[in-house]
Amino acid sequence: MVQPIVTHTIEPRSIDTSSVTESAFHSVSATYATDDLADPHSLYAQLRRTTPVMKGDILALYGIPSQADYANTGRPVFTLFRHADVAAVLRDDKTWSTDLLKDGLGTFLGEMFLSARNGESHRLLRRLLQPCFAPDVTRRWRTHVIAPLVEREYGGQWRARGRAELMSDLAMPFPILAIYAILGFPDDPASVTQFADWALQILNGPQIDPEKAKASMARAFEAADLLDEHVRGVVAARRRAGASGEELIDRLIRTEVDGERLDDGQIAGIVRMLLPAAAETTTRTLANLMVHLLQDERLLARVRTDRSLLPRALTESMRLEPVAGFLARRALRDLDIGGVTIPAGSAVSLVMGSANRDEAMFADADSFDLDRSQQANLGFGYGLHMCIGMPVARTEVEVAADMLLNLPNLRLDPDRPAPRLHGLQFRGPDAVHLRWDTK
Ligand code: HEM
Repeated sequence: MVQPIVTHTIEPRSIDTSSVTESAFHSVSATYATDDLADPHSLYAQLRRTTPVMKGDILALYGIPSQADYANTGRPVFTLFRHADVAAVLRDDKTWSTDLLKDGLGTFLGEMFLSARNGESHRLLRRLLQPCFAPDVTRRWRTHVIAPLVEREYGGQWRARGRAELMSDLAMPFPILAIYAILGFPDDPASVTQFADWALQILNGPQIDPEKAKASMARAFEAADLLDEHVRGVVAARRRAGASGEELIDRLIRTEVDGERLDDGQIAGIVRMLLPAAAETTTRTLANLMVHLLQDERLLARVRTDRSLLPRALTESMRLEPVAGFLARRALRDLDIGGVTIPAGSAVSLVMGSANRDEAMFADADSFDLDRSQQANLGFGYGLHMCIGMPVARTEVEVAADMLLNLPNLRLDPDRPAPRLHGLQFRGPDAVHLRWDTK
């Protein structure tokens, strides 16, 4: 059933993300960061040389929740640092399963959590979702949702301000506004803020400290239930209204593959999965890109002058500092990696931040090089589970970065602390103080 394209502009309004959402965001940062490791990249470089297949989980060693064993089952974990090993795992879904993702975050995300599905069940759901994220769909969202949203929220009145703190003023609220508008949520700022906060509570559920975990898991379960209940209401309302629009929920209602369709409960599950996936990651990816650009005058001048370089700059920024710093898989059979025996049932913790700087794959791997080949970058994952929202995320980051680069003489505020990227997982800065000329 092909529906006519709705050409109206979706009009999301401003929301106040200053209170609960901001503190939940910083709490997520703290959960996945460590003060004991200021520069993970030199440690990764050393381990790539000496122990590329390490017995144990480096995240757990630093007290950070790890997908490799969220549920503390005690399964053996190995950490992989080299690009070739990481890519080989991600490419081979016959040997490696994502079922371990059902623990931890997956506990709250349920059956529709695409990342945790494997084989036929993953293939079918991915085929149903894929057309909803097709490049032409994203292009229309760019024109009708994302660009108007950036212009309205951060256009005229922002230019006169002359200063901003990137994270709280733009990078946190903007992806939230964007994903809710793309989904087709009612234009109600208070409930969007509430939904965003529930999504962050879910991300914050897994904790290493059992006492903290008791409280955060209880909050995350409550948040997941509330989110589910409210999202079901939104989906049912859109179905009653005919579901003929451009918005993602309408597309999910209409999508069909070989006679298979999604019911309201399944769509609510998908939306519940997308909310944490879409906001936090995009926030930090935009921030990391801006920090890379603003800390390098020549790079900044080049991209400011030639905006067609923005997509390359984004890819290179994600290579050097991928926000999703670690992925995990579980071995379905015994195997050997680099002379180390990995028994069936073990997990591997894949260090994306290390693989992306592997000198065997990237010449002068630690430098930001706009002209290098864009292939082999693992910032959005690789293989069958590679990020389905990549076109949306890239569009959001590129449109927002383009607007920021239009601010006259945009620079880091010299009177405020320089931004510092931290965190092994969900890596990014807490604050980026910006200045620009107002005349
Ligand atoms: C810059 C922002 C983003 C980053 C860095 C990112 C990163 C990733 C990565 C690394 C994976 C692979 C996980 C794995 O293999 O275990 C992934 C999967 C996924 N992402 Fe994203 N993501 C971003 C934005 C988004 C957005 C905006 C959406 C939705 C609108 C989204 C939805 C998903 C989904 C549904 C999957 C699971 C795909 C599958 O298993 O088939 N992501 N993402």
